[in-house]
This record gives sequence, C-alpha cells and structure tokens, in this order.
Amino acid sequence: MADKEELDSLCKRRGFLWPSSEIYGGEAGFYDYGHLGARLRDNWERMWKDFFLGLGEHYHMIYTPNILPYRVLESSGHVDHFSDVLVQCKRCGNSHRGDHLIEDIIGVSAEGMNKGEISTFILEKEIDCPDCQGDLGEGEDFNMMFDLDIGPKGERKGFLRPETAQGTYMNFAREYRALRRKMPFGLATIGSAFRNEISPRQGVYRLREFRQAELQIFFVPEYNQGSFAEAYENLSTKKIPVLRAGCEEQKKMSLDDLDDLPKFYRYHLGKMFEFYSHKMELSEDKFRLRELSEEEKAFYNRIHFDVEVDMGSLGGWKEVAGLHYRGDYDLTQHQESSGQKMSVPIDGERKVPHVIELSFGVDRNIWALLDLGYITGDRDWIDLPVDIAPYQVAVFPLMRKDGMLERSREIYDLLNSCFNAFWDKSGSIGKRYARQDEIGTPYCVTVDYDSLEDDTVTIREISSTDQIRLKVSDLKQELWSYINKEKVFKNNN
Ligand code: GAP
Repeated sequence: MADKEELDSLCKRRGFLWPSSEIYGGEAGFYDYGHLGARLRDNWERMWKDFFLGLGEHYHMIYTPNILPYRVLESSGHVDHFSDVLVQCKRCGNSHRGDHLIEDIIGVSAEGMNKGEISTFILEKEIDCPDCQGDLGEGEDFNMMFDLDIGPKGERKGFLRPETAQGTYMNFAREYRALRRKMPFGLATIGSAFRNEISPRQGVYRLREFRQAELQIFFVPEYNQGSFAEAYENLSTKKIPVLRAGCEEQKKMSLDDLDDLPKFYRYHLGKMFEFYSHKMELSEDKFRLRELSEEEKAFYNRIHFDVEVDMGSLGGWKEVAGLHYRGDYDLTQHQESSGQKMSVPIDGERKVPHVIELSFGVDRNIWALLDLGYITGDRDWIDLPVDIAPYQVAVFPLMRKDGMLERSREIYDLLNSCFNAFWDKSGSIGKRYARQDEIGTPYCVTVDYDSLEDDTVTIREISSTDQIRLKVSDLKQELWSYINKEKVFKNNN
C-alpha cells in the first residue's frame, strides 16, 4: 500500500509532480508536472483518446477556450448551483468545507447535505474549528467558480471554466451539421478546468486547476438506443465491481444484472470497466463503479456512477471519473437561453438530443497509477502499463570503454526512433537498473563485451528482473511485440 509521503518524495526526486510555485512558498491547489510527469500525462491522454474515440465511428476531439462568458455558465446552472458549503471559524477566520469537516471529525459521509443541515449537524455534534478549536459560524453557499473580467475595462464578466463539457455543448449544433447530421456522435475534449476549492488537499486529488478528459455522446434515446444495444450484447455478461446507491456492500455484477438501468448506460459502464481493467491494468479489487444517491448526484445528472480507486496514499476509495447521464438538460438550457436551435429533425419531428458524459480527472488517474503501481521492499519500482510509462526502454553500456559506449549510443538511436528511449552511461549498472525501476521503465538493454563479439545485447524486464539475450537485428521487433502484448517476455533458462 503506497505511503503518501514516500510517493510524494519519489515524485519530487525523480521529476513526476510537485506543488507549484514552491520557491515562493506555493499556493494550495496547484501542481506542476516535471519531465517524467509530463510524459506520463501525455501518454495517458493519448491512451484515453485512442480508447474512447474508438468507441464510435463519429467520435472526434475538439478544443475550446478556458474562459467562458457569464451567460454560458448562467444558462448551464453553474452560477446558481455550483457551490459547496463553507463554514468559517469565528475566532481564527479559517474557512472549511462543511461536508469535509464532518467527514474528517465525525467519520460519516456528509456529501449532499445543504447549508442548513450542515450547520445543524455541526451544532449538535459540537464540532469546533480543527485549527484553533474556536466556534464555527453558520454554513453558507460558496460558488466554486473563479470569476474574472473580460476586456480592458472589465466590461464583461466571465469565468474560468469549471468543467470542459460546456465548451462542447456550445459547439453541438455546428459540429452536428459539419459531421453531416450523424447520430449518435461524440465530441471529446481534454484540457484544464478550474474550481476555487475551499480546502484543496491530498496532493493532486483536490486541485484548483486540474485537467479533465471528457467525452460527450449525443443521441436521441428513442431512435439511437439500437446502436448501443447491439454493442451491449458483447458485454452483457461481463462482471464488474459495483456499489449500488444505498447498499453497504460492493458486488461483482454482470451488466445484465443491472437491468433497472437503460442499456445505453450499461454499455458505457462496461466500457469504463474495460478502460480501467485492460488499459490502466488495475486489478479488479482496486477499483469499482459506485452509484451516487439522489442527494449526492450533480444537479445536471439523471444517472451517475463514479469510478473509484482504492488508493492507500489517500486513505481508501477515491473518485477518479464519472459516467453521467445528463439527459437533455444541457442542450435544452442553452437552446432556451441563446435562442439557437439545438434540436435535430427525426421522423418529421424535432428532438433535443440527450447526453451521456464520460468524465475523467486526468491528475487523479495519474495519481492512481502511481499509487497502485509503486512497489517498495527489497527493490522499489513502479508497475505501469508499458505503453504509457515515461520511457519504454533504457539503454546502457556495461562500461564506458572498448567501444561499448559508442555501440550503446547507436542502439539507443535505433530504438529512440520508434520508442520513448533513454540512454544512461553513468553509475554502476545496478544503480542504473534501480533508477529505471523507480520510474517504471519496463525494459533495459545492456551492451556488454559479448555484444561487441556477436552483436547481441541483454534485455531485462522490470517486474521479474529476468534477462534474455537478443540479437540487435531482432531488438526493435521483439520490443515492439512485448510492448504491444503480442508476445510474452520469457526467460527460457
Ligand atoms: N463534466 C462533469 C464534471 O465535471 P465532476 O465529477 O465534477 O464532473 C469530473 O468532475 C472529474 O474531474 C472527477 O471525477 C475528478 O476525477 C475530476 N475532478 C473534479 N474536481 C477536481 C479537483 N478539484 N481536483 C482534481 N480533479 C478533480
């Protein structure tokens, strides 16, 4: 089980991620990605795009601005509803998020409680300020959006987007036409979202600026369910770890067992499961799909399951993604407020499409990979899916003499043309292996004296530490087969 301090220390020491603006004392809720973190994040985003755009013939990426005009977020409901309950200490003035305070001090979930319920609970349980033990004030609604002025004289109000989704809804009608009126169709985007969290905490888990990867699938339920239902049949008996709303115990359930949910929703639950199981390679006892109760659901959702990962460094089950059935809420709101048609013609009628949203927090998913992958003991190493590790292969000369240095550089150049490769010529060979283990490089290639005789090299695999000898002429192809899982790395000795 990963220890938060150890993992933080590794992330800083090796170049993954750390609090931003550290040299000026930092500002809670902002993180920087170093050279390895940036590689890992880019690779994760590429994997996400490949997998989720692959779900539909008419699924595409779009990119939209971080700043949205006031009217967009007023229409979406964020101006009125996107708030948490803030509780302020009457003595020291520190602000606390009401539901977190209750969860941390009393140990019960307070998600979904309104300001009145939180104030009463705090009074009844005599909860004091955790910082100075002073009395706490009444709970108040605090809108989490960062507002700003647009234009040199601040003529117009705007916000940093609290979710990437809204930019996508703005483009629904234009893309529907540009994509020749196909339905269902999907628009995905990856980018920053901003929330002025009352108490940013637990590293990248609760940030004020974070990245989201979101896919909005537009469809008309009465007409397009068939296209999901067909694909559903291949997944229907698949068992997935589920925690239903109101249940204490999580269970492995087949998608067929969840028959109170529409098939199009179950199909996407199955695909979310596949992403975590096959792509992120998480073991099935480490993640689950948890259904949110009526009180917990976001204001725009009709059906809402979160993906939760059991992360030791963050104290247990934590949300990393969500599957949201938003119905026609968003397009109807924007149609009414903007006066622009969001409906599509079907059988002589006009229908406002519904949205199913697959929403992922990139930072939380990166942390989940590091948390579950970090293995300590005789040897410290990170078990990452090979195709998204910062480097896929490292190349070393055994020694920097007798031509080994030059030959290892040639082999590095050869491999770097098609993999993310790293060349390391300094330190003992043991230390070089250890350095690569600590950053999750799945394969290490070493050029030794025999290499100079017969043009072979050793290749070592990270999890088993097994080594095999390969001809340099076969290296690229073999490595390719291991990384693409076409072949299993096996030591035949
Ligand atoms: N468009 C839907 C939406 O934004 P959300 O549940 O509020 O839904 C989606 O956010 C995902 O974004 C979450 O599952 C989480 O992974 C990530 N996320 C939300 N708030 C975050 C924060 N303050 N810091 C880091 N990630 C966050």
